[in-house]
Amino acid sequence: MQKKPTFYITTPIYYPSDNPHIGHAYTTVAADTMTRYKKMRGYNTYFLTGTDEHGQKIQRRAAEAGLDTLTFIDNIILRFKELWQTLLIDYDDFIRTTEPRHKKVVQEIFQKIYDKGDIYKSEYQGWYCTPCETFFTERQLKEGQICPDCGRPVEQMKEESYFFRMSKYEKRWLQFIEDNPDFIRPHSRRNEMVNFVKQGLEDLCVSRTTFDWGVSVPFDTRHVVYVWFDALVNYISALKESPQSGDIYDLYWPAQVHLVGKDIIRFHTVIWPIMLMAAQLPLPKTVLGHGWVLIGDTKMSKSKGNVIDPIVLSQKYSPDAIRYFLMREMGYGLDCNYSEDILALRINTDLANDYGNLLSRVTGMAKKFQGGIILPPAESTQFDKELIELAQATPQRYGQLMDEMRWSDALIELWKLINKANKYIDDAAPWNLNKCGEKGKLASVLYNIAEVMRLATIMLAPVTPSIPAKVWLQLGIADLPHLHDWESLVWGKLPYGISVSHGAPLFPRIDLNALDEIPFTALPDSLPVVAKPAQSVAPPTCSSEAQKELLLEPEISMEQFKTMDMRVVKVLDCERVQKTDKLLKFELQMGEEKRTIISGIAEYYQPAQLIGKNLIAIANLAPVKIRGIVSKGMLLSAVNDESGQLELLEVPGIESGTRVR
Ligand code: MSP
Repeated sequence: MQKKPTFYITTPIYYPSDNPHIGHAYTTVAADTMTRYKKMRGYNTYFLTGTDEHGQKIQRRAAEAGLDTLTFIDNIILRFKELWQTLLIDYDDFIRTTEPRHKKVVQEIFQKIYDKGDIYKSEYQGWYCTPCETFFTERQLKEGQICPDCGRPVEQMKEESYFFRMSKYEKRWLQFIEDNPDFIRPHSRRNEMVNFVKQGLEDLCVSRTTFDWGVSVPFDTRHVVYVWFDALVNYISALKESPQSGDIYDLYWPAQVHLVGKDIIRFHTVIWPIMLMAAQLPLPKTVLGHGWVLIGDTKMSKSKGNVIDPIVLSQKYSPDAIRYFLMREMGYGLDCNYSEDILALRINTDLANDYGNLLSRVTGMAKKFQGGIILPPAESTQFDKELIELAQATPQRYGQLMDEMRWSDALIELWKLINKANKYIDDAAPWNLNKCGEKGKLASVLYNIAEVMRLATIMLAPVTPSIPAKVWLQLGIADLPHLHDWESLVWGKLPYGISVSHGAPLFPRIDLNALDEIPFTALPDSLPVVAKPAQSVAPPTCSSEAQKELLLEPEISMEQFKTMDMRVVKVLDCERVQKTDKLLKFELQMGEEKRTIISGIAEYYQPAQLIGKNLIAIANLAPVKIRGIVSKGMLLSAVNDESGQLELLEVPGIESGTRVR
């Protein structure tokens, strides 16, 4: 059997000094999109993310919060993990630099470079920016001892340190970049880095003695390894000491892509490759430096107080919409602007009007004019051929742009097809064809639109992962997985005679006039972050004792309520999840779709008594993996918080798939 090509992609590991914001989410959504895309193209993928937990900044933040450093970090990490789950991020490993498996590899590499003579002891005298964890020379500072990167005051340092002989590698680095022109992308960033290195590389201070929150230098434990030297090693330590079985380091290293923001490109394209050269390890193929999510003309960041919580945003607009927005809005190598207006407009225009509406139009018209059946098309006219040719050419163009990681350009290309399809309907006017009895032409239009919808949905799947299942259901091809994959991006595979159904809109339209904007998150600096739903409201004041106990959830708008897709589901099978006390695994029928839901109600029911029952599920809840099983949705039950009594909501006699409002 032919071996699959591998694709190893990483995000930077995030500082858990504050909650994540949508700027952080950009990199991770991009890496997840790319992984899903490569998987569809037959690659054996590996996607790594994690947290960068050492250094003075984090130790100080924990102290300010009055918490032990690891407890402080543990809390914030829950928030990161919750965010990745909310945004449907499916990483293979989450590395934390405080894990022993990571420390071990940092020490091995430090020792190896030291043994080679490329690390030596001396004294560092200069400036340090703690928020950026970066050393600066006097010459590099802005006037008034200000950090040139973040604009905050730097601190003077004078301490015994170990130095990494970077200067020795200057020529070799320049040669490497010349031989590997795609190592730094976009190319404009490569030119910046080449100019920087040509000015002369200085040796880098790689240990500190004035604090201890870090990995000890193996041969001199008074020192901890400089946080960037430590952090960069994660890309290797995660593979070398992976919890997964087998030697995945040999399989995946060197990485195909390190995806990073432009502010940390120097660490990844100069320091990291030189560390690898010194440690005699292979270098990654590409470092892609993307732009920033801006608010106005300022980078979104906690220190600027202009942060938007992506979890709240995602709950309001759906994770698929947020993912699409991020991937579409930021051009290759450019910054992008965030405001809720821009986001809502993008959702309405691209997702609700163009893409979602295409499905509504075809299913609605098929129902009205052809009894819900997609009939065989008549012979194509020149008018049809224009659409068909574009549909045939788009996968190749889209794929090429995705391979180049030009996600926004790829989506623009895809939208040319979607827009053409909408225009094709307007020009063909199927309602007139129906009136005039032009049945053959009508069948062609509906078939061609349904086929465009199928192709567009496959291409869009890596960006909006929970949408395809909904489209397949409405197109009546949920049971035909060979029509869902990349190989099936061939015009005309959609079978004739399929029965479509007109379902809920994929992306409900947002009322821009009634936009109730999410405010910036303004957490007091010292507040430890606890990973539980943020908004719980004070109990309403009312007279009866019973009512006093009733803690109401915050109000939501009708629009928000409508985003919940509740359906009747029939229990086909139910069993306990092995080695758990609480979990039941349900196999359910929902209209024509079968799905699995895990529910933590094993203590209330015997599995057998539930088989055959009709229950209610929230069908569009983001899928989650529980004990290795993907659970898609949630079963509704009435729970008495006081007595602990729980009862599943039953709707006997109602057909599965029926919508609950
Ligand atoms: N811990 C280092 C990375 C070490 S990797 C070996 C770090 N962490 S960070 O949390 O400050 O930033 C992580 C990533 O988020 C960086 O790539 C950074 O560019 C990105 N972003 C942070 N704010 C951003 C925006 N407003 N917009 C886009 N990306 C941004 O740096």
